[in-house]
Amino acid sequence: MEAIRSLRQLAQRDESTQSAILESVSRGTGNPLWWEDVDQHIYLAIPPGPQESSRRREAWESRPQSTDGWKKALLPQESDYDKLRTRNGIDAAASGRRVFYHPNGAGCFKCHTINGRGGNVGPDLSTIGRSMSREKLIESILEPSREVAPQFTTWTMETTDGKVLSGMLVHENEGKTILGDAEGKLTELKTIDIVTRTPQRTSVMPDKLADRLTVQEFRDVLAFLESLK
Ligand code: HEC
Repeated sequence: MEAIRSLRQLAQRDESTQSAILESVSRGTGNPLWWEDVDQHIYLAIPPGPQESSRRREAWESRPQSTDGWKKALLPQESDYDKLRTRNGIDAAASGRRVFYHPNGAGCFKCHTINGRGGNVGPDLSTIGRSMSREKLIESILEPSREVAPQFTTWTMETTDGKVLSGMLVHENEGKTILGDAEGKLTELKTIDIVTRTPQRTSVMPDKLADRLTVQEFRDVLAFLESLK
């Protein structure tokens, strides 16, 4: 209730005040609100209070340590689990969306766009629920380098002044080449300055993302991705 009231208050502020508040929220120092979009839609989150965060730490410390362990935790009881959450009034997909856009979490949004919001280093995931099974989704998050579509190949490029950069080719046109790295950061080069380009076998998407998630957060992200149709 408290959070809902402050959510309404926030929505009534002008844009620059909203930005300032949201900025402090994203640093973990602000009003316990969650944002999705400043001017349209502001998302509500249960604040990670002291109790909540030690509970989270516990859950995080006991997370699975291997791909098989994760699959076991994420696959078999998935539907029961999601139903249980829904029955308890928790919208798993909405929680997953918050995990996806969490500034201090796995940072999915830094590279992926969903319905127009997010970065452009990785593929747009707006309809990923249509084309990928749960198991495939789990694999693409746990082992991103296992299958990389050709347009997402990571390249190492050397420039005339001896700089070596690596990343995914986000854009190449009109003499400009833009590379996106593992932090979702974009670097612009003059195409003419590139001396060599070597394809790498690994994905730009880090393979340690699950290290930043609890089982519940991972499940919620899956519920969110599965809902995108
Ligand atoms: C540093 C950038 C980056 C981050 C962070 C990142 N991804 Fe990715 N992701 C990529 C790239 C690049 C690809 C395409 C290459 C590949 O398949 O590995 C990809 C592929 C995927 C795919 C497969 C999509 C397809 O159509 O094949 C899924 C699903 C996915 N990411 C989900 C996530 C989720 C969920 C997170 C957060 C937990 C996340 N990604 C974080 C860059 C990123």
